[in-house]
Amino acid sequence: MAMEKTLILIKPDGMARKLTGIVIDRLDNAGFEMVGAKVVAVSEELARKHYEALKNQPFFENLIKYIRGEFHGIKNHKIIAFVYKGENAVEGVRKVVGATNPEQAACGTIRGSFGRITTKGQFENVVHASGAGPEAEKEIELWFKPEELVE
Ligand code: TYD
Repeated sequence: MAMEKTLILIKPDGMARKLTGIVIDRLDNAGFEMVGAKVVAVSEELARKHYEALKNQPFFENLIKYIRGEFHGIKNHKIIAFVYKGENAVEGVRKVVGATNPEQAACGTIRGSFGRITTKGQFENVVHASGAGPEAEKEIELWFKPEELVE
């Protein structure tokens, strides 16, 4: 077991559907500690950097629109970013969040409870949570300054 930090984003569908409180509650109940939180207007540049690894995927341009709120017609593209800390937090938070495809996400996970796929084909899965490997550290660096984390 290792002490880890991981990035969580409340995506525009999660914001629009007022799910922030529920996400915080579930992560609290799972025993993770919030060490960073802020409201962020997601610029085109930030969105493209965040999803850089997926730039060759056919759904990439929709993903950029989605994370910036354009997909949902939200003009101020405002989301909430969190850093959570805990033992094996990267894998543990992903477990609370559930599978990428909301149709495959287990019941009781955040995406299993609240995610959806619309007829447009976009996965609307409420939250982002860092994946395994170097991803979490890289993403935390992208979204937060070191002094914004309280540990
Ligand atoms: P990915 O990083 O593979 O998943 P996760 O968010 O679970 O780490 O994909 C990023 C986002 O891209 C995902 O949250 C939703 C979207 N996406 C689609 O819209 N369609 C797809 O087929 C995949 C794989 C992802």
